[in-house]
Amino acid sequence: MLCLGIESSCDETSAAVVDSDRNILSHIIYSQIPDHQKYGGVVPELAARAHILAIDEVVRKTLADAGKTINDIDVIAATAGPGLIGGVLVGWEFAVGLSQATNKPLVAVNHLEGHALVPRLTNNVEFPYLLVLASGGHTQILLARGVADYEIIGQTLDDSAGEAFDKVAKMLGLGYPGGPIVDARAGLGNPTAFKFPRPLCDKPGCDFSFSGIKTSVRTQVTNNKERIANESFINDICASFQAAVVDCIINRLQNALRNDRVKAANPGALVVAGGVAKNSAIREAMEKMALEAGLAYAAPPLNLCTDNGAMIAWAGIENYRLGRMVKEPVAPRPRWPLTEL
Ligand code: KG4
Ligand code: ZN
Repeated sequence: MLCLGIESSCDETSAAVVDSDRNILSHIIYSQIPDHQKYGGVVPELAARAHILAIDEVVRKTLADAGKTINDIDVIAATAGPGLIGGVLVGWEFAVGLSQATNKPLVAVNHLEGHALVPRLTNNVEFPYLLVLASGGHTQILLARGVADYEIIGQTLDDSAGEAFDKVAKMLGLGYPGGPIVDARAGLGNPTAFKFPRPLCDKPGCDFSFSGIKTSVRTQVTNNKERIANESFINDICASFQAAVVDCIINRLQNALRNDRVKAANPGALVVAGGVAKNSAIREAMEKMALEAGLAYAAPPLNLCTDNGAMIAWAGIENYRLGRMVKEPVAPRPRWPLTEL
């Protein structure tokens, strides 16, 4: 079975052809980062227009790269939310048009489920698994029981992890998107140079709070204005900030493993997904934790952590297999929690 997947919920216009044997036949990710960089973040209206300009070419080239035509495709899948609604509309309506013109089945993919299921495409992870889904818009610990069946075990009470990385980068004048830059600079710094807080870490439960760490970084930066041009100061801030985020994720996961519902479900693997799953320190710490807990560990390859069409195509296949295609017109949704599938 061949699925064409389309993603347009943020600043990547992406499409992929994926088959049900877990092969990615072709994959194009057209990033708009250069369009948004000068504004220090994604500008929704610019993103929507850039998607309109790119989508036709991205889909045509994806099919051509796979050596296929639209007639060879069995099912079409596109992100129908959550995300920046202008962009979601572009990809979703494009997919609706293709599906109607070709009479092919259509799956409305939840973008978060795309992130959540991609480790099954790349690592063949079996349900149930304990998942840290950390992106620019969300940070959650989820019990993935099955397709369309997720339980939130913990989530951020304020900023997402990606947002915290991006804001810290902005304070330090490091550019956008901040996560990869902070990650790289952290590798050059001393993680114990600054003692940033670990919010909620002495508390029961599995929720996160990242805004306090960010505020504490801001205080250090404000108090050390004369050192902001100093490379080692920046590297140390990045390393110390990243260490605080990693400690919070691991502490919350330790509680999650003690959670009664998680214990009853007995997940076989610890999995990380979403853009922040690219982070080297988070990957390393979670792998170590999984080993200690006797769990398998999986993280998608780096290019499938941030937004991409292959994860949407795969989620399309998984949902289609269960008969979860669109049966009547649906409107895309800016907000669409994983618990409302
Ligand atoms: O999943 P994603 O591509 O988009 C959303 O669905 O939000 O995630 C983007 C986020 C951005 O905040 C970016 O800074 C962050 O992922 N990110 C990272 C790294 N690479 C990307 N955060 C930390 N370390 C990284 N290496
Ligand atoms: Zn995403």
